[in-house]
Amino acid sequence: MLINNLFAHVTSYRSSIDAAIKRVLDRSWLVLGPEVENFERLFADYIQIAYCRSVANGTDALELALRALGVQAGDKVATVANAGMYTSTAILSIGGTPIFMDVDLVTQVVTQNEVERAIAQGAKAVVVTHLYGQAQIDIAEVAAKCRSSGVKLVEDCAQAHGARVNGKRVGSFGDAGCFSFYPTKNLGALGDGGAVVCRDTELAEKVGYLRQYGWSAKYQVELAGARNSRLDEIQAAVLSEFLPHLDSWNARRRDIASQYSRRITHPAVIFPSTDGDDYVAHLYVVRCSERECLRQHLRELDIATDVHYPIPDHRQPVFGNRFSELRLPNTEQLAQEVLTLPCYPEMAQADVERVISAVNHWPVAAVEKGGN
Ligand SMILES: Cc1ncc(COP(=O)(O)O)c(C=O)c1O
Repeated sequence: MLINNLFAHVTSYRSSIDAAIKRVLDRSWLVLGPEVENFERLFADYIQIAYCRSVANGTDALELALRALGVQAGDKVATVANAGMYTSTAILSIGGTPIFMDVDLVTQVVTQNEVERAIAQGAKAVVVTHLYGQAQIDIAEVAAKCRSSGVKLVEDCAQAHGARVNGKRVGSFGDAGCFSFYPTKNLGALGDGGAVVCRDTELAEKVGYLRQYGWSAKYQVELAGARNSRLDEIQAAVLSEFLPHLDSWNARRRDIASQYSRRITHPAVIFPSTDGDDYVAHLYVVRCSERECLRQHLRELDIATDVHYPIPDHRQPVFGNRFSELRLPNTEQLAQEVLTLPCYPEMAQADVERVISAVNHWPVAAVEKGGN
């Protein structure tokens, strides 16, 4: 069993994908054209925010959003260290300095206290990651704190398309919300893609310049720090076909996740909270101190798993010894314990049953950990 199945996904929607691609080819306007404009409008409406500017991928979305918000070389930017290094990569590309925040052991997202600590350390911007589809539940309070401190807030929503907090979609709380449309995301293209959403007209304009050579008009370069980071028409057309399905895909993901959380009863496996609109089950991630043993057991039963993510950002080789003194106890513990089980909208119920049964019948750790 795969951890994800893009073949099933693409096959299920093949006729609407073909129609979208045909529409683009018939027009043969291939980059930044009417399909991009249409998708940007649809996605902004979905998030219920004024602007969406599509870009080439989610990492560019983070970098260009930070640049558009005024982050420059030498500035401090706060981020978590358990989210795959994407934000840190964006910060490093600008020449910024990461301030790493620890996460809550249960929700695995940053706490308000840690955000406040980062602000006190001089962060010019804070990036909050809604990880695994789990929204940072205090995001409105975090946004208020950032605003009153004059600190910019970016939401990394690459794993949380459609998640809501008190009825409001993530991406609409901060100064900017950044999305990835990598194929396996809750809303994924047929290749790379990304977007920045925001309320502010000037910010949207800047991201629009930065994604295309810094142009304010054709061949007129207005902003430094720019690049070519455009979404192509075929991806935009496919994303527009997929967007109306996002809520039902999220509902199926949540359904699988809640079956896991209700029915996986192994005492050595800690499961995430899966209730509510603040969770869209991008990844179903359990914790287990005997992770490699559980992984091996599932591998023997032909069930694929993954680890998101094995190396916290502050321990990545790119930093050498730069953060060797830094301790992020929860982040470091989670990197040893997290294990991702298969969870995707096209997953057959029989496969869901197989995963539940396989985890519950894992023999070794039940004996070792049963008394804990
Ligand atoms: C939390 C998070 N942020 C950012 C990214 C970067 O997105 P992309 O791969 O499109 O650059 C990803 C996805 O890979 C992600 O999971």
